[in-house]
Amino acid sequence: MSRSSSSTLVFYVNGKKVEDSNVDPEWTLLYYLRNKLRLTGTKLGCAEGGCGACTVMVSKFDRTSRKLIHFSANACLAPVCSMHGLAVTTVEGIGSTQTRLHPVQERIAKAHGSQCGFCTPGIVMSMYTLLRSLPGKPSMEDLETAFQGNLCRCTGYRP
Ligand code: FES
Ligand code: FES
Repeated sequence: MSRSSSSTLVFYVNGKKVEDSNVDPEWTLLYYLRNKLRLTGTKLGCAEGGCGACTVMVSKFDRTSRKLIHFSANACLAPVCSMHGLAVTTVEGIGSTQTRLHPVQERIAKAHGSQCGFCTPGIVMSMYTLLRSLPGKPSMEDLETAFQGNLCRCTGYRP
């Protein structure tokens, strides 16, 4: 017997529609990205919202302002079911060495802002979300604020 369509989770990942009628409510978005979609760029660093290694961008149509809004989220804490109707962008969604790197990816690499590299996708997505969500040019203060939830144990943060 097929399930009713109301029990089907529908959301978008890097522009592709995902439809799944067999989702466990306990699965996090991070689990789903890595284990179901095999998008392993988004990392598990702590599973408690502290390190930001799992940062992704979530986009939704805000019905009050009638605008598309973008915000960053910890995929380790977001239940995948809460993504119904929303669009998720991961580090693989903004560019790659096989196609072309996004300027955020290119700059952090060339400026030696990546050592072990495990924190880099999360930091890239925090920066990317900031650039997508601010109308103008971000200030230094905006940048520092954007990384409040991202830890790096290697670089000392300066680069
Ligand atoms: S894994 Fe550390 S914040 Fe999600
Ligand atoms: S480069 Fe290693 S944790 Fe940031």
